[in-house]
Amino acid sequence: MFRPPRDLSMGLLSPPARFPRGARWVFIMMAAVLCSATFGGAQEKASAPAPPAPDNKPAQYVGSDTCQACHEDIFNAFQKNPHHAVEADKKRGFDGKACESCHGPGSKHADSMSAADIRQPAKLRPAEADKICLVCHLNQPTHVGRINASHAKNQVACVACHSIHKNGPNGLVARKAADINQLCAKCHTDVWASFQRPYKHRLPEGAMSCVDCHNPHGSVLPRSIQTVSANEPGCFKCHGDKAGPFIYEHAPVKLEGCPACHMPHGSQNPRMLTRQNVLLVCLECHSNLPSVGAANGSMGTIGPAIHDFSSPRFQNCTNCHQKVHGSNVSRDLFK
Ligand code: HEC
Ligand code: HEC
Ligand code: HEC
Ligand code: HEC
Ligand code: HEC
Ligand code: HEC
Ligand code: HEC
Ligand code: HEC
Ligand code: HEC
Ligand code: HEC
Repeated sequence: MFRPPRDLSMGLLSPPARFPRGARWVFIMMAAVLCSATFGGAQEKASAPAPPAPDNKPAQYVGSDTCQACHEDIFNAFQKNPHHAVEADKKRGFDGKACESCHGPGSKHADSMSAADIRQPAKLRPAEADKICLVCHLNQPTHVGRINASHAKNQVACVACHSIHKNGPNGLVARKAADINQLCAKCHTDVWASFQRPYKHRLPEGAMSCVDCHNPHGSVLPRSIQTVSANEPGCFKCHGDKAGPFIYEHAPVKLEGCPACHMPHGSQNPRMLTRQNVLLVCLECHSNLPSVGAANGSMGTIGPAIHDFSSPRFQNCTNCHQKVHGSNVSRDLFK
């Protein structure tokens, strides 16, 4: 069995005491230079007697039963892990050696029991760790394989959200809304704070979760917004009445999307609007638009404008323009 040459480095750093004081320092510095200049090989040459030559053969697969002997708890818990399917699946080529599908061939480690001889995905760089998972999880319907998504680009590895061996709600995969929210909120504290505002989707109550609107694995839409069918944003999954197509579309609903007027995470304003009241939301665009109707503009405070904004009657725009998301009967979005 191969043993790391532990006694060797000890010998280098504590030279025999019979050297005079100054010479001892020279010896130590020479040893240090030698070591750093030619790491590894130099250690062998400098030693007497030479330790057994290191076994340079690549590690072999030894099978999950071998791991069981020393990792009984993990092995037993693994019997209920969805990855246990790998153990019996001949197609993936890891039958009988599921442990090593993620940890790599384990013969060296089984001999040495050293952590340095086994792959631990959580200790690798995110991109490298993800590669291990994607050997099997590429091209899944949930865009799991889209490693160009924002999380992957920002060094958030699969194992940041998926704990392979942990039991409990945030184990392999969080499924309950409250558990998912907790997982995401851990990093996105500012977003979570928005959900504490008075008008918001009911995430803190556990009635909805971030993945109702976002795909944690990325999507074709910006901000990893979920899609329902084709490229439609996930808002329509629940707010289908806003989906259209309408005969009379309201341009921003169609072109800019819901966040043009709403703060989807939560807002101080009723209806999660971006502004304190409806008037201000509308005027953000409509005070500057060239008017279609009257010669000197339909908006304004002076007649013959249709809208006299100095009169309270005109200030609540949606009293008249009720179908602000689109209408099938009224070009002016009245009904
Ligand atoms: C002879 C006993 C023994 C066998 C067999 C064994 N291990 Fe280990 N394993 C250990 C010990 C001891 C440690 C702790 C090492 C340390 O912390 O320095 C360990 C640690 C690990 C770690 C953690 C490494 C890290 O960086 O934290 C992994 C992963 C692991 N083993 C996987 C496996 C797999 C997979 C197998 C089967 C191929 C296996 N082990 C077989 C004894 C064993
Ligand atoms: C799907 C990939 C995968 C499979 C299969 C897998 N592991 Fe792991 N293992 C991991 C990851 C990732 C970690 C890092 C900790 C975590 O995320 O849970 C880990 C951590 C470990 C550790 C270190 C635990 C610690 O607390 O530091 C040991 C030991 C281990 N695995 C052994 C095994 C054994 C034994 C098997 C088979 C019964 C196995 N693993 C199967 C991915 C896997
Ligand atoms: C050797 C192939 C293989 C590797 C490598 C692998 N997986 Fe899996 N994974 C599977 C199989 C098989 C399943 C069972 C479910 C299925 O049919 O997709 C699964 C299921 C899962 C699930 C879903 C569990 C559920 O309840 O739906 C998650 C999450 C997962 N794996 C994450 C990972 C992560 C993270 C890694 C990398 C550390 C990884 N896997 C590596 C094959 C693999
Ligand atoms: C930002 C956190 C996060 C990251 C990063 C992440 N996942 Fe997930 N993953 C989730 C959540 C949350 C779910 C549950 C989604 C649901 O229930 O709709 C999930 C579900 C899954 C599933 C089960 C199938 C499904 O969609 O329900 C698999 C398999 C999976 N992830 C694999 C991976 C792999 C492989 C990676 C790395 C390439 C990865 N995940 C990266 C959070 C993440
Ligand atoms: C380990 C930390 C971490 C976890 C956990 C995490 N994220 Fe992220 N997320 C990031 C980082 C880092 C970025 C990139 C910087 C940024 O935009 O804040 C990011 C970006 C995003 C973005 C912006 C995407 C884009 O394309 O601009 C969304 C949406 C997102 N995360 C949603 C989620 C959801 C949903 C969850 C839970 C399933 C989650 N995140 C869990 C760290 C995390
Ligand atoms: C009701 C749907 C919805 C829910 C639920 C939701 N988001 Fe979002 N999120 C959006 C939309 C829409 C955007 C894009 C906003 C924009 O373009 O201005 C967004 C943007 C983001 C961004 C990009 C940066 C930013 O702050 O605008 C991050 C990060 C993010 N969401 C994380 C999360 C997390 C984490 C959760 C759960 C705690 C969550 N979201 C829940 C709809 C949602
Ligand atoms: C999973 C379902 C679901 C999704 C997806 C969803 N919502 Fe909602 N939304 C609801 C529910 C349920 C309510 C009512 C909340 C309440 O009663 O507290 C609501 C309320 C609202 C309200 C306030 C309504 C009011 O009467 O005050 C607005 C605005 C809104 N959603 C916009 C959006 C936008 C924009 C998106 C996409 C970014 C979206 N929603 C995605 C379920 C959803
Ligand atoms: C041009 C601005 C604007 C855009 C874009 C917009 N909304 Fe609205 N939305 C409003 C206003 C204003 C109200 C409040 C109406 C009222 O007070 O009568 C509202 C109310 C709502 C309500 C609650 C009342 C109701 O009619 O059910 C929901 C839900 C809603 N919007 C969802 C959405 C969704 C989903 C989208 C994206 C498809 C969207 N909105 C895009 C301006 C907009
Ligand atoms: C993000 C910019 C934006 C916001 C906010 C906005 N609109 Fe519009 N609206 C437009 C654009 C662009 C058009 C198309 C103008 C055109 O075709 O000349 C339009 C068209 C309209 C029309 C139909 C005009 C016609 O063709 O007869 C009405 C009515 C209308 N908006 C009312 C509202 C009301 C009420 C609000 C506030 C709830 C609002 N809009 C908020 C950009 C916006
Ligand atoms: C008392 C009912 C009423 C209220 C309140 C009202 N409007 Fe109108 N709006 C009308 C009528 C009537 C027309 C003209 C219809 C026509 O000539 O076809 C109109 C037309 C429009 C048009 C069509 C474009 C144009 O210039 O002709 C826009 C845009 C518009 N209103 C925006 C608003 C906004 C923004 C508000 C809130 C600040 C608002 N309206 C409040 C009744 C109202």
